[in-house]
Amino acid sequence: MPLDEDKYPVESDRRRFVKGVVGGASLAGIATAGAAAVNSATAPSGEGGGTTTFRAVENTDGPAPRGMPQIPIELEPIDGEDDFYIKGVWPEVSTETQQGREVTVAKEEIGGVEYSSEWYQYCGVQTYAGVYPNAQKENSDLTNYFRYTKSSKYEWQNNDVSGGEKMKLSHFDDYKTWGNGVGTDGIGKPANGTWRSEGLDPAETMPVEVIRSERIEEAAKESEWLKASTSKGVMAHLNKCTHFCCVPGFKQEGSAKFAAADAIYCQCHQSVYDPFNIVEKSFVALPRPAKE
Ligand code: FES
Repeated sequence: MPLDEDKYPVESDRRRFVKGVVGGASLAGIATAGAAAVNSATAPSGEGGGTTTFRAVENTDGPAPRGMPQIPIELEPIDGEDDFYIKGVWPEVSTETQQGREVTVAKEEIGGVEYSSEWYQYCGVQTYAGVYPNAQKENSDLTNYFRYTKSSKYEWQNNDVSGGEKMKLSHFDDYKTWGNGVGTDGIGKPANGTWRSEGLDPAETMPVEVIRSERIEEAAKESEWLKASTSKGVMAHLNKCTHFCCVPGFKQEGSAKFAAADAIYCQCHQSVYDPFNIVEKSFVALPRPAKE
């Protein structure tokens, strides 16, 4: 499928530039196969990256060029409790050869979709320790549990749970009635969290938003992907606006003016995302800086 149309000319120029480099490198490869000069011209500056097709919460308004990447979730039963921890699924780690180099990748097929760590490689996240495929091997503190942020846009979270605590399914039990005075009550209960960020510099925190909604439960009946990537109406996405990387929010203060009271709204430049419409998109994932 074609790449997303960027709405900002500067972004389009960058994309044309990327395409030009790729095209030029292929031609050079044909003309002088195997030459060392070609290798240095085509070697990426880091690991992974490139055109990536992913699943996104749809961008419906504002300057954002595309939706934010969904994070497949799983529910882990808690010993001795009738409850579950909510975790983000990290794809399987393996090694493959890319342009003559061994590169560690994290990718697997889920619900008929190729899911990869490259989905999250934009807005600087490509440099975060947690996005490296085998990060957990190097840093045993890192886990796939979603943990609550210390301060949240949602009062329920500030009152009922603590920062750093693991998200549990039971915290969302009132999802069919919950409201915060913005938009319609009962369409979904959100929480702000972090993922794969334990023990890292706060600047490397991966922000996530988790929403439990009947609409997700319904949609999952019709979609192999949603059946595999959500559970009991719980879904998650990386909460970095694809415009200039702000952290948006579902049912956020100030969103009603932009017809986004029941959507995800980015207060920086009024981009709007629909968490109940998951779409397939493509973008050019940025490479991770190479490790020594
Ligand atoms: S709309 Fe600009 S950063 Fe979100």
